Amino acid sequence: MNNFVYNIPTDIRFGREQIKCLPEELGKLGKKVLLVYGGGSIKRSGLYDKIKELLKDFEMFELSGIEPNPKLSSVEKGSEICKKEGIEVILAVGGGSVIDASKHIAASACYEGKPWDLVLDRSLVKKALPIAVVLTICATGSEMNSGAVISNEKTHEKLEINTPLLYPKLSICDPTYLYTLPAKQTAAGSVDILSHVMEQYFQPNDEAYITDVLSEAVMKTVIKYAKKAMDEPENYEARSNLMWASTIGLNHLLTVGKGGAWSVHPIEHVVSAYYDITHGVGLAIITPAWMTYVLSEHTAPRFARMAKEVFGVNESDDMSAARLAIEKVKEFNGSLGLPAHLSDVGITDEKFDEMASEAVRTSGLSTRAYVKLDKEDVKKIFLLCR
Ligand code: NZQ
Ligand code: ZN
Repeated sequence: MNNFVYNIPTDIRFGREQIKCLPEELGKLGKKVLLVYGGGSIKRSGLYDKIKELLKDFEMFELSGIEPNPKLSSVEKGSEICKKEGIEVILAVGGGSVIDASKHIAASACYEGKPWDLVLDRSLVKKALPIAVVLTICATGSEMNSGAVISNEKTHEKLEINTPLLYPKLSICDPTYLYTLPAKQTAAGSVDILSHVMEQYFQPNDEAYITDVLSEAVMKTVIKYAKKAMDEPENYEARSNLMWASTIGLNHLLTVGKGGAWSVHPIEHVVSAYYDITHGVGLAIITPAWMTYVLSEHTAPRFARMAKEVFGVNESDDMSAARLAIEKVKEFNGSLGLPAHLSDVGITDEKFDEMASEAVRTSGLSTRAYVKLDKEDVKKIFLLCR
């Protein structure tokens, strides 16, 4: 196993009605609060009113309208409010988009230059406001990690800022808040969780057995419960298992001892930067194409292991088992009603060349990925996704 440091300062409060701790726990972080949320789901579900009532003794400011694939302009707005009003703590109520925007706002509020500088050079982040989270969609793991993915609408860049200063201090994860999720978001979120685990599972280091076994457990959990949560939105067992899977899926537990660069995410991030599609939908389309492209004698044993351990495939020949793993992933995505082709979401081959260059330029694809990919490889993967 590779050396690692595992030090996560996020206080997780998981389960029904955990929100009751909010006044006390948030009070430890500050009294002047910027409440950040998205396009209105928290108003429709009643969560907004509940939070306002719980925090009636706090001084509250608001930033609403954070868009899926959060935009730099929203971060700029939030950062201005924080500076002008002397905000002490940010409360993000929503999913990855709201949390990521909040993280970037938290860092920008403590920086004199432009917020985008911090994305281009994370060493400029010296300080950040504390962040608390109330999670309403399980997918990204942003509730317990230090990453934030922001889209610059002017340059078509969708990049990650990642520094330990951005770990949320508190995350309230109540599975009943997932009950109002549209089926499409449950599906996209589930594929995102699966993809996070796969990114960490498919890495050159093959010695972190314990990490791989934990990964298999999380993948099995997603496969067992994703469809159930769509069919029975108020099934607490399904929602709670998926919610914890999303947190574990990307709180670095499944990367310890392994490391390396990711493969499918950098490709998807470019697609959602150019076409603003849902992140999990992009992953559903690209993952089987990536698997197909990188399958070789060298990678077959690891794909075969996934087929056996996660999907219960009983096949002794590694290459045959590996091919079945690809079919199983396609089947899983299809069972959730997700599209299989870029053309299904209105994307043609017009920008494949440009997007392939961007994916390689902005990631470790060509230097540190499981199978190193250059621009032509990524373009071929796009062609497989048509
Ligand atoms: O905006 P509202 O009205 O709240 O609606 C949201 C949004 O339209 C809706 N929603 C959320 N909770 C709901 C709900 N609707 C009904 N009931 C609820 N309880 O769902 C839609 C999607 O929300 P979003 O926050 O965009 O979803 P997700 O959590 O999947 O976040 C996606 C973003 O996170 C980035 C993605 O690239 C994308 O920008 N990622 C962040 C990562 C990280 N920070 O570690 C890693 C990921 O790989 C990913 O890249
Ligand atoms: Zn993701």
